[in-house]
Amino acid sequence: MSKNNRKPSKSWLNTFSLLMTTLKSITLLSCLVLVYAIFGEKFDFSFQKKEVIATKSTYVSNSNQKGDDWDKVENGIHLQTGLIYAENFDIIRGQCTACHSGKLIAQNRATREGWTQMIRWMQETQGLWDLGANEPKILDYLETHYAPKEVGRRTNINIAAVEWYILELEEN
Ligand code: HEC
Repeated sequence: MSKNNRKPSKSWLNTFSLLMTTLKSITLLSCLVLVYAIFGEKFDFSFQKKEVIATKSTYVSNSNQKGDDWDKVENGIHLQTGLIYAENFDIIRGQCTACHSGKLIAQNRATREGWTQMIRWMQETQGLWDLGANEPKILDYLETHYAPKEVGRRTNINIAAVEWYILELEEN
């Protein structure tokens, strides 16, 4: 009778301890995953960033030495250049980011004419080469993605066409 009683309780204990071990492992694993989720990316990121800075300053054309960040695009922005990632982007990167950062381009907005003038200015005074068949593609890109804000959002208000009226204030 007593033997029969012990046996099931022992096996239950075994099951219980196995269960606890599993639970502990899961908890430990979750903690590790959590720690990695919080800190892992930070560590990785700072490491990769150092690598990119190094390749940037030495201007390495060997694709093996470019970091993973080289082609990273987030929310449509190519991170390394700060430029909108769209059609003809590769031409822009090739022709327009050799002398200065792409951020200088991203900060500016102009019409196609305005962009043409900037290119001419760089060609006349800063040693920018003849862009040849790439020029219309470059201008297409710039005109589409870096148009003046007003043109991009809405056309200017035509003052003459506005029907003006006198605003009557309620008197209390
Ligand atoms: C040969 C070198 C060179 C190349 C290639 C080059 N630029 Fe420039 N760019 C310059 C220099 C130098 C400046 C002046 C930088 C400064 O003011 O700090 C400049 C300035 C600019 C500016 C700022 C203009 C302003 O009014 O502030 C823009 C925008 C620009 N470049 C766009 C472009 C675009 C688009 C291309 C590709 C077609 C390009 N650059 C290629 C040399 C170059």
